[in-house]
Amino acid sequence: MSDVEDVRVGARAKSVHALVMRARAIMLEPSCARKAKMTAMTKRWWSSLGTRETAIDDDSMGDADVRGAFRGLESRAECASVVEEPARDAFAGGVVDPSKTRRLGNGGTDASRTAILHSLASIESWAMILAWDCIQRFGEQRAMPVGFYDDFVDLASDEGRHFELLAKRLEERGLERYGELEAHDGLWRTARETAHSLEARLVVEHCVHEARGLDVLPTTIMKFRRNGDEPSATLLENVVYPEEITHCASGLRWFKYLHARDGGGDATEEYSESSSAVSAFHEIVRSHFRGALKPPFNDEARAKAGFTPVWYEPLAVKPFVVDKA
Ligand SMILES: [Fe+2]
Ligand SMILES: [Fe+2]
Repeated sequence: MSDVEDVRVGARAKSVHALVMRARAIMLEPSCARKAKMTAMTKRWWSSLGTRETAIDDDSMGDADVRGAFRGLESRAECASVVEEPARDAFAGGVVDPSKTRRLGNGGTDASRTAILHSLASIESWAMILAWDCIQRFGEQRAMPVGFYDDFVDLASDEGRHFELLAKRLEERGLERYGELEAHDGLWRTARETAHSLEARLVVEHCVHEARGLDVLPTTIMKFRRNGDEPSATLLENVVYPEEITHCASGLRWFKYLHARDGGGDATEEYSESSSAVSAFHEIVRSHFRGALKPPFNDEARAKAGFTPVWYEPLAVKPFVVDKA
């Protein structure tokens, strides 16, 4: 590592607690739009640490409506410990149980395409919250290295940007704003179930849910393209899809890291079906994810994220259940 890079890593290491406090302030901000702006500010601040730009007060650089959002953070008691539940504005469309959402349709009508975009925007907003939750809940508790924070700040910033771009697309399509239609909080519900374990959070959210996103996104892109909404198709294809691959890769990278550091694994091991990391991964999915993984899998995108089939194919088979009747 060069001296300059050493200084930069050192500056970020010294600022981990300040980053965790910011993550909590973002969790506690009710508006998703403001959460996304605070996320972008934090990404700028984190990336500038150890450089000459650090001298610039990031509060003076942020968007007008979030300027000062992080001022006096050290004395905010609610940011001193883990935020268990994020704040979210109640919105017009209402938050519904994931099993009770209306069908989005196949993109053949204007209303269906708008409903799909709204649902995607909602998922992105939750994904942004989940990235901050990972930092504020587990980062210091598990003594994670600077690279972990780098990856999750990037992840939060990508998801916040995806949310903003999709919300803008909704407005261009005539919706007054994100939040007018119903949305579900399924991602957060599953996150609650992995609040006790960083390994389980990484596996379930990033290696199961986000990888599933890679499987279905090409079909969603096609729905928009086939029905003449090229701007939405292009946004999903050129921005969201490639960045989601990096998120799955981060989940897998840090799961492997923790398994080698704390789980008795070996960082140099070959990841075959019988290796301890892959077995531990399968065990986590089987105990925290109901049912089998749904094929067909997008093997190409998964491979780009480092997922060879040994990680997921054995999980596609339903476990054998003895019929007691
Ligand atoms: Fe995303
Ligand atoms: Fe993502």
